[in-house]
Amino acid sequence: MTTFSKFQRSTKQIISFCARSFSALTVLFVLSSIMAMSSCSDDDTPTETADLVLNDGEWTGTGEGRSGSIIVKVLVRNHQVEQVTMVSQSESVFAQDAINSLVEKALGRRDLMSVEVDGISGATLTSTGVIDAINTALQAAMGRTADADKNYTDGTCDIVVVGAGGAGLSAAVAAAETDSVLKIVVLEKQGILGGNTNYSTGGINAAETAIQQELGIEDSKQLFYDDTMRGGKYENIPSLVRNLVNNASATISWLTGLGADLTDVGLMGGSSVRRTHRPKGGSAIGPHLMKILKAACQKENIELRTSNRVTGLLSAADGSVTGVRVQNADGSSYKLAAQAVVIATGGFGANIPMVAQLQPSLSGFATLNHPGATGDAFAWVTNIGGATVQMANIQIHPTAEANSHILITEAVRGNGAILVNNKGQRFCNEMDTRDVVSAAILAQTQGEALLVFDQKVRKSLASIETYTSQHLLSEGNTIAALAAAVSVPDETLSQTISRYNIQQKAGRDDDFGRSATAMPVSLDTPPFYAVRVTPAIHHTMGGLSVNTQTQVLRADGTPIVGLYAAGEVTGGLHGANRLGGNGVADIVVNGRLAGLAAAALATGAMAAKAAV
Ligand code: SIN
Repeated sequence: MTTFSKFQRSTKQIISFCARSFSALTVLFVLSSIMAMSSCSDDDTPTETADLVLNDGEWTGTGEGRSGSIIVKVLVRNHQVEQVTMVSQSESVFAQDAINSLVEKALGRRDLMSVEVDGISGATLTSTGVIDAINTALQAAMGRTADADKNYTDGTCDIVVVGAGGAGLSAAVAAAETDSVLKIVVLEKQGILGGNTNYSTGGINAAETAIQQELGIEDSKQLFYDDTMRGGKYENIPSLVRNLVNNASATISWLTGLGADLTDVGLMGGSSVRRTHRPKGGSAIGPHLMKILKAACQKENIELRTSNRVTGLLSAADGSVTGVRVQNADGSSYKLAAQAVVIATGGFGANIPMVAQLQPSLSGFATLNHPGATGDAFAWVTNIGGATVQMANIQIHPTAEANSHILITEAVRGNGAILVNNKGQRFCNEMDTRDVVSAAILAQTQGEALLVFDQKVRKSLASIETYTSQHLLSEGNTIAALAAAVSVPDETLSQTISRYNIQQKAGRDDDFGRSATAMPVSLDTPPFYAVRVTPAIHHTMGGLSVNTQTQVLRADGTPIVGLYAAGEVTGGLHGANRLGGNGVADIVVNGRLAGLAAAALATGAMAAKAAV
């Protein structure tokens, strides 16, 4: 059991911790907080509003990490966190520093932690699990009843959204924006919001955006369409692709209108030009989106119920959907009737038996998915006659860190990294589509490769900093030192990098055909870095059959009235291979469209009732 106590740390320790982890502004903020804290007497009354006061005592909380439950005990004294004790956790050794840092961040708090602000690694299951565990304890200390302890009973609303990731919250916000009278409830089976969106890194694709224009990037909706179809091996349903590319630019404007920063535009595999929009400096998209969408939900008075698991759909004699059946955390059930139901539950990438059954070649692969991505919705929908498409199309991502299986974003390659094998040789066009790059890695010894880059690449992409804080990177001040650190022949690695640099400068990769756009920098600035990678299950591209209005379809193509779906739970948009950046585009574009369609139905129904 590890115990961390606020009073065991000196101010100097706190300052040096801040200096490593935060911006100068944050350091100043923390320093002034420390000064404020040290001027408090023991019986100072907290300044927070009554319902936010932490009550003194020892409180227990649990969260779900990458490797199972995380249990903490939090000691609150004088209304602030004095000590955090890790009672049990089995996260990997790579995650220990992140856990320690998060626990340090909890000390002295008088309020809840938030994933997007406090997460050391931002996009890891461990980080969210620790924060969730601490927050559960803090909520108990506040005397708040967490959803896990509430029992809802039968009720009605206008729109039910199932799933509180990026697609679900986009749907809820878009619906609410159409009419403030609509009562919208979002149901989430996990104890926290976000699903896979919490871990999404690369960015959101869109063409012909104002941001691209400002950066002088020439792109077109047609090129976006062509890239997506080619990437998907032309198995994509063309109308869904057309719908995505036509609505993506307006969706970027919608997000920026909500406060999102999408000003950095990068390149992902299979895209002809830079169209992957992400926050300034190239930091992870997912936590940023969740922060924006959660704030919008709050503003729109959308009701969010976590630990509420949907178990089935309610339908009328005419086949239309009229609501959902839900299970409270204690196992009791209730019915929630609605004019429209939006399913945004994500894919089934964490349901390993289902993946292996549908795609036996993926047996034994690790997954990059959060534990809730189990595909529960397929049974509810097929039970009432809904159809699924392309269920066996499951994507593996080429670069999961080989031990921890933490996603190393494709954007690292987009910003200039190369892949080499254990002999120190390149073996593919690193910016080819994911299916091609994954197959090339799997053909190397042990199905692994090293992703290699230099300081310039590191500086160009903020999300790389999370990998350094997780100690995932090997480092060398010379190529020889890096080669020694990762046990590859230094002469070959030096020759490989020299040759790549010559080709990069010439704008022509005669060895593997990587385009000039996809070779933005030469790898010549120390230190040099490497991370060992292997493919892991990433995205389930098959799913519910939908049309461009996000209506769920039966096998005969007729829509099920009252039922909409958006995001990874749907199938056919990505075909046989999804392009990086199209996953987030899908969840926000189609989440928003689903919300608008559901709102139109619900508003029409309300108007019809009023007219009677
Ligand atoms: C990545 O950052 O490599 C994953 C993003 C995506 O799948 O779109």
